[in-house]
Amino acid sequence: MEVRKIGVIMNGVTGRMGTNQHLERSIVAIIAQGGVKINDDLTLMPDPILTGRNENKLKALAEKYGIEKYSTDVQAALDDSYNKIFFDSSGTQQRKRFVEMAVKAGKAVYCEKPTAITTDEALYLAELCENAGLKNGVVQDKLWLPGLRKFSMLKEQGFFGDIISVKGDFGYWVFEGDVADQPTQRPSWNYRAEDGGGMVIDMHCHWRYVIDNLFGNVKSVSCRTATIIDERVDEKGDTYKCTADDTAYATFQLDNGLHVNFVSSWNTRVRRDDLLSIQVDGTKGSAVIGLRKCYVQSHSITPKAVWNPDIDSPINYYDAWHEVPDATIYDNAFKIQWEMFLRHVELDEAWEFGLREGAKGVQLAEDSLKSHDEKRWVELQRL
Ligand SMILES: NC(=O)c1ccc[n+]([C@@H]2O[C@H](COP(=O)([O-])OP(=O)(O)OC[C@H]3O[C@@H](n4cnc5c(N)ncnc54)[C@H](O)[C@@H]3O)[C@@H](O)[C@H]2O)c1
Repeated sequence: MEVRKIGVIMNGVTGRMGTNQHLERSIVAIIAQGGVKINDDLTLMPDPILTGRNENKLKALAEKYGIEKYSTDVQAALDDSYNKIFFDSSGTQQRKRFVEMAVKAGKAVYCEKPTAITTDEALYLAELCENAGLKNGVVQDKLWLPGLRKFSMLKEQGFFGDIISVKGDFGYWVFEGDVADQPTQRPSWNYRAEDGGGMVIDMHCHWRYVIDNLFGNVKSVSCRTATIIDERVDEKGDTYKCTADDTAYATFQLDNGLHVNFVSSWNTRVRRDDLLSIQVDGTKGSAVIGLRKCYVQSHSITPKAVWNPDIDSPINYYDAWHEVPDATIYDNAFKIQWEMFLRHVELDEAWEFGLREGAKGVQLAEDSLKSHDEKRWVELQRL
């Protein structure tokens, strides 16, 4: 049995996503399970080196997770031919510089989304990797969430008939940080456009691959955005001006004619099943997709609703929805994609989540903002 080690540079990994999802729940979890078993003769074992700017933070992280290697010298890690993969979860605006360095060093490149703030830059990074013949990928974690997988399974089985409507509702209240006992739960850069923040750039790149994969390719967008909370308190306790949009109301038209509505907001209190909820109506049945759960209602058990606001509803509409049971074991979504990328890099297995797909997400975000600015529908160019 060969255990083949794969050197993985994990850059910007002291951040929220880097630590929680990519290090702890993906790479460390893969190591703990004994690697990615390919067959009786071969197992792939990621061997990380953590890179970033702050040596103390890196050391603490390495010690906590039992990682041997860390460095503030990312170039030295790139120069080491043992390392095959460069992964970046640093800030979006750092991405270009790091990807350029990784391409120069001939590494396979894997990145958090968004890969850039502009489509031009995102496409440039994709082409940089493609022209250098380097394997590349972007995080599209939502595709492996149990709720979405359950929906896809039913869709493949024809449960919904023709899908006629899709409505997404995303968001929750992000505390402003001005009340000591209600600290904010997201980094402050998310609310500053000049630092790469904003609801649209953050979430519409997710909605692009979710919609493209589940419902059909996005063709055009109409979007209004707003900055509803205009001041927040940052990590140091200083008040700052929110310059980025924190709310977006969008309609996406797909090339199969379907219209998809998404409301995304960090200023809403949740009274629905989950932080993301997508209602899909079809001629034969409907679904309400959450992050982990999926509820369905078939045409045959659809209650007969009759409008009468003068009495309390005689029907509890929740009663006719049924939870789709787990069909398998649903592993962490980021981890699943990591395992696929390791297999793609090492064994050349199929991979549909390259930086070009990442650029499509950035494109939807940029065109959504353009739609807002110009108060019109924007047709997406083919990338
Ligand atoms: N897939 C998802 O669902 C998802 C969710 C949230 C954020 N993200 C993306 O992940 C990335 C990180 O977001 P986050 O929420 O973890 O933010 P964060 O601010 O917690 O982390 C960013 C990290 O990058 C580091 N960094 C900044 N500049 C650097 C530099 N020059 N060199 C090295 N490291 C540097 C910071 O020190 C920090 O550790 C962003 O691109 C964001 O859009 C993805």
